[in-house]
Amino acid sequence: MKDTAQPLISSPEGDLPSAVRWAHLLIHGRLRPGDWALDATAGNGHDTLFLAQSVSPGGRVFAFDVQAAALAQTRARLVAAGIDEHAVELLNCGHETLADVLPPDARGRVQVIMFNLGWLPGSDKSVITETSRTLPAIRAALEWLAPGGLMTVVVYPGHEGGADEALGVAGLAGGLSPRAFEVQHIRLVNRPACPPECWAFWKRH
Ligand SMILES: C[S@@+](CC[C@H](N)C(=O)[O-])C[C@H]1O[C@@H](n2cnc3c(N)ncnc32)[C@H](O)[C@@H]1O
Repeated sequence: MKDTAQPLISSPEGDLPSAVRWAHLLIHGRLRPGDWALDATAGNGHDTLFLAQSVSPGGRVFAFDVQAAALAQTRARLVAAGIDEHAVELLNCGHETLADVLPPDARGRVQVIMFNLGWLPGSDKSVITETSRTLPAIRAALEWLAPGGLMTVVVYPGHEGGADEALGVAGLAGGLSPRAFEVQHIRLVNRPACPPECWAFWKRH
C-alpha cells in the first residue's frame, strides 16, 4: 500500500488536524491498489489526486463537479502528478445524479467516497453545494459504498447556506440505523465562528 498520508499532527506546533485533514487521515490505509473510489466534489483536485494515488495502479476513481473549470484544474493536477488518465473519470455533472451516471457494477463496490462541500477555493463563490442536492447525493452514495467502506463529508457551516446544509447532514446521519452504519462527527467546539466539520460514515459488513 502506498504511503500518501502526511504525519498525524499537522504542524510543528502540534495543533490538531483540520476537518479536511481528518478526512484524509481517516481514509489513509483503507484503500489498496485496484480499489474503486469516488470524489463527489472534485474542486481543485486535491482529494481526487489523493484517492487516485491511493488506488493506483489498477484502481478507478470517479470525480464529480458541476464546474468545468474545477475539472480542468483537477485534470491538470492529475497530469502533473503522473496519474494514468484512464484511472480517473472526470464527470461534469452534479453528484445528485450519481446513480444515473456511475456504471451499474460500481454499486456496492466503492471503497471510499469523499464529499468536500462549499465553494471552489479561489473562485467567485457563486457556485456552492446546496442542501437540496447534497442530501439526496449522500443518501445515494451510501448505497454505492461497499460493505466495510468509508464515506467522509466535510461541511462548512460558516459558508452561505452552509449552516442549513450542516444541519441536514446531521439529521441524515442521526437517522441512519446503527446496525447498518457507524457515524462519527469531528468538530472544533471552542471557537465562536463556525469552523469546518468532518463526518465519517462507515458501512458495516
Ligand atoms: C470545497 S470545493 C471541493 C474541493 C476539492 N475536493 C479539492 O480537493 O480541491 C466544492 C466543489 O463542489 C462543487 N459542487 C457544487 N455543487 C455540486 C454538485 N451538485 N455536484 C458536484 N459538485 C458540486 C463546486 O463546484 C466546488 O468545486
